[in-house]
Amino acid sequence: MANVENGNRIKTRFFRVSEENFDEVINEAAAIIKSGGTVAFPTETVYGLGAEGLNPEAVRKIFEAKGRPPGNPLSLLVHSRVDVEKVARNIPEKAFRLMDTFWPGPLTIVLEKNDAVPQITSGSLPSIGVRMPDHRIPLELVKRAGTPLAAPSANISGKPSPSLAAHVVADLTGRIDAIIDGGEANIGLESTVIDTTVEPPVVLRPGAVGIEELEKVIGIVRSGYKDGKRGNDGGQLDKQAGQKCGHYTPDTKVVLVEGESKFVSEKIVELLGNYRSRGEKVGLLLSEEIAGLVAVKELGADECFLLGSREEPDVAAKKLFEGLRDLDRKGLDIIVADGSFSRSGLGDALINRLREASSLRFTV
Ligand code: TXA
Ligand code: MG
Repeated sequence: MANVENGNRIKTRFFRVSEENFDEVINEAAAIIKSGGTVAFPTETVYGLGAEGLNPEAVRKIFEAKGRPPGNPLSLLVHSRVDVEKVARNIPEKAFRLMDTFWPGPLTIVLEKNDAVPQITSGSLPSIGVRMPDHRIPLELVKRAGTPLAAPSANISGKPSPSLAAHVVADLTGRIDAIIDGGEANIGLESTVIDTTVEPPVVLRPGAVGIEELEKVIGIVRSGYKDGKRGNDGGQLDKQAGQKCGHYTPDTKVVLVEGESKFVSEKIVELLGNYRSRGEKVGLLLSEEIAGLVAVKELGADECFLLGSREEPDVAAKKLFEGLRDLDRKGLDIIVADGSFSRSGLGDALINRLREASSLRFTV
């Protein structure tokens, strides 16, 4: 199977999946995977870019296509418990309880890897992230390909993850063998990542499975991500294995404003005035509440993308990456965003991604 080596663009096949052609599309995609190729597909979190996870040559193509720095570990998608035993060893009892409760679903569990997993897949770490997705397409694909799939998000490294097939098309056409369009990713943000090789387990990335839910099943867990609700352990955990690389950054600089609606709207009006007086083109990424208060039209912002209500973080989460990508295409100098959504549901994960995307943050 061809790859993008030496700048050669490869022909990317495009499949739009439907009830009628489901079997045919999955069989073709599985054949591409089995011949060592790369296929992008939807999951319930975001689109993933899959290849045979235990085949170093296939995994190398993922790194190449995404421009992903070597050493950044990939996670594996599995179809069954048997698959997990193929790639991990010394699996702690807590990990089994997490699988029982949250799989299939948006939870990646970091386990001690076994010798079947090549160094390139795990980024030379002794551990590997494993997830059983709650989506028919990747589940069938893993089953028919007959191997766990290495499957990072299907975006160019460092860009917002893809929640729509169109995002994958924009980033990876000419760089991968096929794209399966199966509609929008239902959740819109990447899975929660929990490391169960340490005690107590550490959440490395917030997602749809919240810390409280995890604690109900396995007792105390630590929060190991930057800017989390519970802080970051004095910075120690920033160095956590596998969390070295920046994420979610659009090309346009993002300025985040957090606080009560009234103060956030005043600050955004002030910032907009400052940037525009310097002749800069400004885009806004706003909740409905703030959009109502700042009267977007009269302000003369160049572009505005609405994420929905501050009280509905799940809706905003689903739109976030689309909003960032949309504004990023408009040739703006700066994006000013509202950063105060409810912490319920996907709120923690949403705020984490907004903070990661931003290079400057005001709390008012
Ligand atoms: O929802 C998701 O997890 C999506 C879909 C496609 O499954 N995938 C995804 O993959 O977001 P990726 O590679 O973009 O993110 C996987 C995360 C990264 O933050 C990576 O650093 C972490 O999991 N990770 C993977 N293996 C790890 C390990 N052994 N130790 C620590 N972190 C690990
Ligand atoms: Mg990613």
